[in-house]
Amino acid sequence: MKARPARKTDGVCWITGGSSGIGKALALRLASNGWHVVISARTREDLQAVAGQVDGPGRIDVAPLDTTDADAVERVVAQIESEHGPIALAVLNAGIYLPVRSESPDFSDYAKTFAVNLNGTAACVSALSPRMVRRRSGHIVIVSSATAFGGMPTASAYGASKAALLNMAEALRIELDRYQVFVQAVTPGFVETPAQDDNAFPKPFMISPEKAARRMAAGFTSRRFQITFPRRFTWALKALYALPADWYIPLVRKQTGWDKPDDAPKS
Ligand SMILES: NC(=O)c1ccc[n+]([C@@H]2O[C@H](COP(=O)([O-])OP(=O)(O)OC[C@H]3O[C@@H](n4cnc5c(N)ncnc54)[C@H](OP(=O)(O)O)[C@@H]3O)[C@@H](O)[C@H]2O)c1
Repeated sequence: MKARPARKTDGVCWITGGSSGIGKALALRLASNGWHVVISARTREDLQAVAGQVDGPGRIDVAPLDTTDADAVERVVAQIESEHGPIALAVLNAGIYLPVRSESPDFSDYAKTFAVNLNGTAACVSALSPRMVRRRSGHIVIVSSATAFGGMPTASAYGASKAALLNMAEALRIELDRYQVFVQAVTPGFVETPAQDDNAFPKPFMISPEKAARRMAAGFTSRRFQITFPRRFTWALKALYALPADWYIPLVRKQTGWDKPDDAPKS
């Protein structure tokens, strides 16, 4: 039997990064579709504020967690399953965006980005996949980004983490299908959330978190590997990334203004 998308009768949905932006909108959307959702993030009060907004027929419970602590991830996953039942759908969405300027990079921005986006997601997968494999059932969604498709200026940390996540999701999709565990990746373009506050770039075709949540919830019922939106933006990006790198790089440099003389301090 092949892996299939989770149904709300299979168990609960766990969303990391569920206190803000895309994760919050998705939690509220799935709860309004009747799912029992459990949300995690580091700040309990923010999680509780989201849970308080549910208007049925589903519900939201909270499980505070720092996903960079792999032992805590294992504990929280075990606790969710003992209190609420099996995690049928896991949306690994917790992530941060820290712009890095190559004139004065701060290694800690790379380290923090990889710790949350990459290691945090790997910790969640490590806690979830053995349980789902044992049950021969489950659905894991990894939230990557359209920046995974190719390099972008100031995104050398973020883009690298998201490219790694897309690759991780592909590997898991290949491996876990024979255990009836279903894997998808989400590659959004710009979504209007607090994470975008530090992004000084133009943000073409930016959509609301609620629209992103609608696209994701619809995508979770399909068998597609990659859920991407807004499509006119992400498909245009895919076409750009399909060019040979020696064409793509100067084109992006020009489009983003990185072909202009720099204003970095000369030492
Ligand atoms: N917004 C966009 O344009 C866009 C585009 C493509 C992809 N994405 C991806 O979509 C996901 C959600 O982004 P967003 O824009 O909705 O961001 P957001 O509004 O800043 O939300 C990020 C969420 O992650 C949580 N989080 C951060 N560090 C964490 C940690 N160590 N452990 C547990 N939770 C943690 C935050 O809560 P606490 O800080 O309280 O822990 C918050 O709930 C991210 O993976 C992001 O990379 C966003």
